[in-house]
Amino acid sequence: MVAPRVHFYGVVDSTNDIALRMARRGQPEGTVVLALGQTAGRGRRGRSWWDEPGKSVLMSVVLRPEGPAECVPQLSFVVSLSAAEMLACDYSLNAAVKWPNDVMAGGRKIAGILVETTRAPGGVAAIVGIGLNVSQAKFPREIEGAATSIAIECGAVCGVEEASDRLLARLFANYDAYLARGFEEILERWRKYMWGLGRQAALVTEERSLRGVISGVEPTGALLVTDHLGEVHAVRSAETINVETNCSL
Ligand code: BTN
Repeated sequence: MVAPRVHFYGVVDSTNDIALRMARRGQPEGTVVLALGQTAGRGRRGRSWWDEPGKSVLMSVVLRPEGPAECVPQLSFVVSLSAAEMLACDYSLNAAVKWPNDVMAGGRKIAGILVETTRAPGGVAAIVGIGLNVSQAKFPREIEGAATSIAIECGAVCGVEEASDRLLARLFANYDAYLARGFEEILERWRKYMWGLGRQAALVTEERSLRGVISGVEPTGALLVTDHLGEVHAVRSAETINVETNCSL
């Protein structure tokens, strides 16, 4: 079992940067960096991550799963599953995961996940960063239509510490399950929260644009999209995914 070793900070640049530095210095698997706020929070694809100090869970965890580098993306499924389960089970929210790892509630994004890797003594370490909106009542204009928080969705006051404890507990339990029984079980549970299944979507990947119905996730974690000719495409990464209309296969 991997045990969390939590380090608390005030306002930092980015918890991922701190965790990256710690991993490079040899801090063990299970090292957790939690901060009150970030001045340079990073999102995926070079985007930034906005926060209001004291209102979100801002967390980065050092993990060192054994196995080939291809396994690293599987960690984002472990984390997004943990966040979705925690929101659904502990807060009774209608949580979903927009592939691969945007966590949604009430149709808006409530959490984002950034997985990075670094060389560390004895091998490679993965840094799993998660930003979860907890007690914000509103968001800046640029993201207000797209973002939500636990407090908004529950219509009640929510504590960041409690949310962070609940997320950590699920994350470490699910990581242990992943190490003990593999990715298949995690993916099976993740499918229950999959957002947009059976709906028409427009995707932009590095190579092309693609339209089709979101038809599942394959055992590797790739997104399956069925186009109008019935051809099934396995998408390994996408810049944008816009679900268009309700439509079943
Ligand atoms: C995304 O949706 O693009 C991913 C956002 C990840 C944000 C978190 S907040 C904690 C950790 N530190 C960072 O700088 N980023 C991640």
